[in-house]
Amino acid sequence: MHTKNLKDISKLSNVNKNYDLTFTKSILFGLKARQKTIESKWLYDENGSKIFDAITELEEYYPTRAETEILRKCSGDLAQFISPDTVMIELGSGSSTKTRLVLDALPALKHYAPLDISKEYLEVAAKGLSADYPSIEVTPIVADLTNEMKLTSALEEMPKLIFFPGSTIGNFEVNEARKMLRRIAKMKHVAALVVGFDLVKDTSKLIRAYDDSKGVTAMFNMNLLTRINRELHADFDLEMFYHEARWNDKLSRIEMHLVSKCNQDVYLLEACISFKAGETIHTENSHKYTADSFTTLSKESGWAIQDIWNDEEGLFAVAVLKPSGEFCLVSLA
Ligand SMILES: C[S@@+](CC[C@H](N)C(=O)[O-])C[C@H]1O[C@@H](n2cnc3c(N)ncnc32)[C@H](O)[C@@H]1O
Repeated sequence: MHTKNLKDISKLSNVNKNYDLTFTKSILFGLKARQKTIESKWLYDENGSKIFDAITELEEYYPTRAETEILRKCSGDLAQFISPDTVMIELGSGSSTKTRLVLDALPALKHYAPLDISKEYLEVAAKGLSADYPSIEVTPIVADLTNEMKLTSALEEMPKLIFFPGSTIGNFEVNEARKMLRRIAKMKHVAALVVGFDLVKDTSKLIRAYDDSKGVTAMFNMNLLTRINRELHADFDLEMFYHEARWNDKLSRIEMHLVSKCNQDVYLLEACISFKAGETIHTENSHKYTADSFTTLSKESGWAIQDIWNDEEGLFAVAVLKPSGEFCLVSLA
């Protein structure tokens, strides 16, 4: 990236107030790195959230089916964590589809707070739930999980069941996941955390789940470029990039990349970003765990495992964790 003309980014945002400063900074810094990177949270604008929902319906995308099977079987067990004042806070709630299974299994639950970065999608999902579950008070929270969570004082004082499905935890680098789990463990009045995580398995099955035959995941990934073109007046030519899913064995994760088909320059605000043919933008990680590696991560992060549930095929897991009050000494640098 040539930075000759790139002024201080905060000044850029003063030039045009329409740019979201956090988004602008993140994209510019990410594209300036040696390995060009875009934080995966930016995949979820309104269109990205819609495309993600289409992914969850694909034959190749087993995580949603497997997690739904588990929740259908086991959600009733969560009743032990519910008192009349309990709020279930769902992290990365998206369309809140699986939530309905949990709400149906927990009739005593009267407060639900879905939290997501995708504002428009969250609002629609929250309205739909309010309409279908009139006895439940629904309080949507637009927030970025990578930051400190700021709850209203009313929510802060309520007993909490934290629900974190969808293997969204896998999108975080292990160190980041540890930090986030620690932040949740330190929240007030948390009875339990229910978290869905994807399991290590045959690489070809994993690749198919992230590079499906209908090209829906490719569309999800490419939508990032459309978003950057729209919101930052960039000129990415979508025909000149393609989607790739890779297995990184060392880090036990699927990576999504956008690969440049040729040498090219892309203009974005006042910056010129140069790509060599074959160079990639790393756009998402999806870490895969074993029961053991997830147990270690949980223990290091202030949680004790109460249960780990699996689907019949052993593809996916949902863990029920309780705060342990113990935080192992692991460097969080
Ligand atoms: C993998 S999807 C899972 C959606 C849904 N929970 C499910 O199980 O199908 C990840 C969800 O987390 C949200 N998300 C991703 N990064 C986020 C962040 N940093 N802060 C808040 N929400 C985030 C996305 O908008 C999306 O709804």
